[in-house]
Amino acid sequence: MPNIALLPGDGIGPEVATAAIEVLNAVATDLTYDEHKVGGAGIDEYGVAMTDDTMAACKASDAVLLGAVGGPKWDTNETGAVRAEDALFGLRAGLGLYANLRPIRPLPALYDASPLKRELIENVDMLIVRELTGGLYYGERGTKDGRAYDTLVYTVEEIERIVRAGFRAAKSRVTSVDKANVLDTSRLWRDVATRIHAEEFPTIELEHELVDAAAMKLISAPRHFEVIVTENMFGDILSDEASMLTGSLGMLPTASLGGDGPSMFEPVHGSAPDITGQGIANPIGMILSGALLLRHGLGREAEAAAVESAVDKALDKGIRSRDLGGTATTAEVTKAVLEEL
Ligand code: NAI
Ligand code: MG
Repeated sequence: MPNIALLPGDGIGPEVATAAIEVLNAVATDLTYDEHKVGGAGIDEYGVAMTDDTMAACKASDAVLLGAVGGPKWDTNETGAVRAEDALFGLRAGLGLYANLRPIRPLPALYDASPLKRELIENVDMLIVRELTGGLYYGERGTKDGRAYDTLVYTVEEIERIVRAGFRAAKSRVTSVDKANVLDTSRLWRDVATRIHAEEFPTIELEHELVDAAAMKLISAPRHFEVIVTENMFGDILSDEASMLTGSLGMLPTASLGGDGPSMFEPVHGSAPDITGQGIANPIGMILSGALLLRHGLGREAEAAAVESAVDKALDKGIRSRDLGGTATTAEVTKAVLEEL
């Protein structure tokens, strides 16, 4: 019986977590959940965003499902203060979650919510695989005498494992995005991707694209992409760009995958303090994070697809939470999805 470490967190986190569990229970009756307080809730209860016991429980689980953490109550500029967000960094580092997967799948019922033309986003179904624990954001940095620097470092091993994650998620094509006409790290990236492709995934097509060209193509021909695999900063920028294809923050799920241990699944949005406690949060990003947990965390493709299809159908029938211009509550959206299951 797979055991899920459930970390509802703060703000609307617990509200959308409840919705996701209801949906998961409808398709996977054998899952068990152990709930832990993290983020601001952890600080209030234990004085830290994430206790050692909670970290140990996460490591021992089959997958981690997180709502959102943080909020004005715990915001502070004091140096050395405990921060709610420490829970996120602790989990990413502690679980070795180096691959961040962000599926971009504009839903037909919401094509009009995107700033892009319908003809462009129709049938877009892409996955951005972003390296999450290396590169420019983790390199040596400094500021001195009117000069500042950041360093971009990747090892062969770091590139191999993220490129593999990209190929494993692909059916037919991987686009490896780099800046190999300028950067040495990108030339290494390209060499490693080419070798992993030839040695381990020869039946999948590999193409290399420069990041500036890829940024253009994401808007001019988004259907071209199936899986994009790229380094930390390029992935950060491209995934925010691509999220606009879908229109709404409350819709987007994400998976962070690790080497050996459990993976973590969470919506892209935060704790939304402005709407907390009103029962109006859009639960779909969290419900779809549950679908990613089924697919990538537990290897249950059929159940994941059933959840995604139920979300599609519920939206097709017109259910809309406030962020999508409708009036449906969290509970009503959840019920509509459950009815399709
Ligand atoms: P946010 O994502 O919480 O909210 C941004 C806007 O989107 C708000 O107007 C909110 O009401 C709306 N929104 C977000 N999710 C929604 C949903 N499911 N349904 C309907 N509307 C939704 O980002 P913000 O306001 O910048 O941050 C609030 C707190 O959340 C901060 O403490 C921040 O640090 C934290 N945060 C946590 C994240 C995480 O746990 N992974 C990610 C981003 C922010
Ligand atoms: Mg970003």
